Amino acid sequence: MLKTRITELFGIEYPIIGGAMLWLSRAPLTAAISNAGGLGILSALTFETLPDLREEIRKTKSLTKKPFAVNVTLMPTVRQVNYEEVLNAIVEEGVPVIETAGRPPEAAWIKRIKDAGVKMMHKVAAVRHAVSVERAGMDAVSIISFEAGGHPGMLDVTSMVQIPLAANAVKIPVIGGGGIADSRGVVAVLALGAEGVLMGTRFMASQESGLHPKIKEWLIRASETDTMMIMRSINNAARVARTDYNQKILNMEQSGATLEQILPLISGKLGCTAMLETGDISSGVVYCGQAVGLIRDVPTCQEIMDSLIGGVPAVGQRLRSIGVA
Ligand SMILES: Cc1cc2nc3c(=O)[nH]c(=O)nc-3n(C[C@H](O)[C@H](O)[C@H](O)COP(=O)(O)O)c2cc1C
Repeated sequence: MLKTRITELFGIEYPIIGGAMLWLSRAPLTAAISNAGGLGILSALTFETLPDLREEIRKTKSLTKKPFAVNVTLMPTVRQVNYEEVLNAIVEEGVPVIETAGRPPEAAWIKRIKDAGVKMMHKVAAVRHAVSVERAGMDAVSIISFEAGGHPGMLDVTSMVQIPLAANAVKIPVIGGGGIADSRGVVAVLALGAEGVLMGTRFMASQESGLHPKIKEWLIRASETDTMMIMRSINNAARVARTDYNQKILNMEQSGATLEQILPLISGKLGCTAMLETGDISSGVVYCGQAVGLIRDVPTCQEIMDSLIGGVPAVGQRLRSIGVA
């Protein structure tokens, strides 16, 4: 069921990819998504040191025998990161799939990683970048759109338009994401031409995500209008929870604040403390996608997968009943 080039490429049961989500994408969440038949993704750059990252990779391996990925987001950061070293460490730890995002890795690194037998995908937010990813020799490309939590790019194009355009533009398999949280969304993304479905916000509200219970409660109550965009003024638009804190950042941006003035508020440390420790959603940037409007519970990843995949035949039946196929 649901065999695509993505399930074949990664050796997974279902074409469901759990989006990397900063400090939430630790071993328990990553392994739980992979154990449920999808592809969990560990987030590399939330570890201060390489030994910490290596330890989390080993922990993930101890929790799942299934394939999983590690995400490396190549972006300007306050902390200097030696990306080549990070990628080498991931390869040395025997991780089967690497997802990069942000700036594409250098050609020589891609070659070395692929020669080591590691599958590579890169996440983009624009169709023209998907074409560059194919040209760079990656195995797959994921494309996220306006609805997505995190950084959905600056173009404001939605999944409905962007996914089919990406599928037309490249031959490598496309993974579509942004706004998906149920079986109807899964079938829709596959119908649009993608061969995998990327979901972040849905897995934020799972038992295995380390998100503070108070913010999980907020997610259950939130509607599709409870997200907003910030950081557009610094060319790094982010979809976040609609909170007083994020509104304050937006107000500053609209009054012409400089990057230096905004930086202290968007600091990862405050977001991390809010998400993991205090649960005070208005004390740091908390990313969240529009799919939050579809989320009404906090199940295990296995239950999420059962519901996503278990609901597919009913969607198919409905489509057949109205003459689709
Ligand atoms: C809380 C949160 C943190 C995220 N952190 C990252 C990240 O560190 N790196 C990255 O490439 N994408 C990150 N994303 C984006 C997701 O990996 C994924 O692309 C996105 O959530 C998909 O859209 P959806 O939220 O509509 O499912 C994050 C998303 C959320 C909601």
